[in-house]
Amino acid sequence: MKNYVLTPGPVPVPEFVLLEMAKPIIHHRTEEFEEIFFKASQGLKKVFMTEEEVLILASSGTGAMDAAVCNTLSKKDKALVINGGKFGERWLKICKAYDVETEEIKVEWGKAVNPKEIEKVLKKHKDIKAILIQASETSTGVKHPIEEIALLTKDRSDIILIVDGITAVGAFPVEFDKWGIDVLIGGSQKAFMMPPGLAFIALSNKAWEFNKNSNLPKFYLDLSQAHKNSLKKTSPWTPAVTLIIGLNAVLNYFDKIGLDNLFRRHSILSEATTKGFEAIGLENFAKGCTSSALSVIKSPESIDAGVIVKELKNKYGMIVAGGQDQAKGKIFRITHMGYLDKADIIAVIAGVEGILIELGHKFKNGAGVATATKILNTL
Ligand SMILES: Cc1ncc(COP(=O)(O)O)c(C=O)c1O
Repeated sequence: MKNYVLTPGPVPVPEFVLLEMAKPIIHHRTEEFEEIFFKASQGLKKVFMTEEEVLILASSGTGAMDAAVCNTLSKKDKALVINGGKFGERWLKICKAYDVETEEIKVEWGKAVNPKEIEKVLKKHKDIKAILIQASETSTGVKHPIEEIALLTKDRSDIILIVDGITAVGAFPVEFDKWGIDVLIGGSQKAFMMPPGLAFIALSNKAWEFNKNSNLPKFYLDLSQAHKNSLKKTSPWTPAVTLIIGLNAVLNYFDKIGLDNLFRRHSILSEATTKGFEAIGLENFAKGCTSSALSVIKSPESIDAGVIVKELKNKYGMIVAGGQDQAKGKIFRITHMGYLDKADIIAVIAGVEGILIELGHKFKNGAGVATATKILNTL
């Protein structure tokens, strides 16, 4: 059976990237690799929409989240965590590990945070030094309003906005410079359609000022070292040479198709998936605040979403993600990031329809595929 990886990370990697990475290894302290490294960091600036240096770390996304905290904050500093899912929770855990105090805004899963609520908390706690948030919360499929939230921090020198854009950067616009974001993170195994193993992070001037005063322990993920080296077209430690070569191929491709087309592609796949499932009575979990990086779909009340996830794999070789914690059994999650196209979306909707028919669920057979196909044909 053919396998389809349709999870919101890792995602399928295009063949031209795999072939680039299959070439013989080169040494990293060579002019040849320095040029590749330089091109990759220049290309990343475009996707991050910034003039700042974008640092390439040999770690998964969480490594860059860890680095964002320990390179900007100090012991007993206070951070405001927007917690609307598993990755919001991760910010709390990282802060705890570093003895950074937290205020928390708990957001109902499936909803976006209201910037007014953030404003209220900032008024009450004038000593908050950072807001920690996700641009796209992958456990719920929610897109938080980063541009509006940045309005609360960009003109203040005493607070920074740290954005986990791991399933946002490359999928939809997150305008680092224009909006005034201070720290932004991306990850290779998401919209960059690469294998896992690289994380990307950009810091604003204000964040670098915070870095000068930060007293939290750091060594491998010391971003000032990474920054100094990046300006010299290299990294302080052995870089993930092969992955960076693959990244270059991806960034060249992004250049060729244009960022607008890349973003448009994600949003059409997202709209087709949402409307397709709606046509068979399955609602989007993040209604009104959907991230176009993935679709999070509620299973019918009488059916455990875990059964849909399991049957998609058993019957069709399709791997989608289920829900975690409070959303377990209630939702399933499908990527729009990576080497994905119309046929993948049609196939997964058809697969779910097939499973629902077998489970005796009543709906208008074929309506999901018909609706999605119409939208996908605009691509
Ligand atoms: C929004 C978000 N933040 C953080 C992470 C953690 O990244 P990693 O698993 O690469 O450490 C993920 C991974 O799924 C994510 O989607």
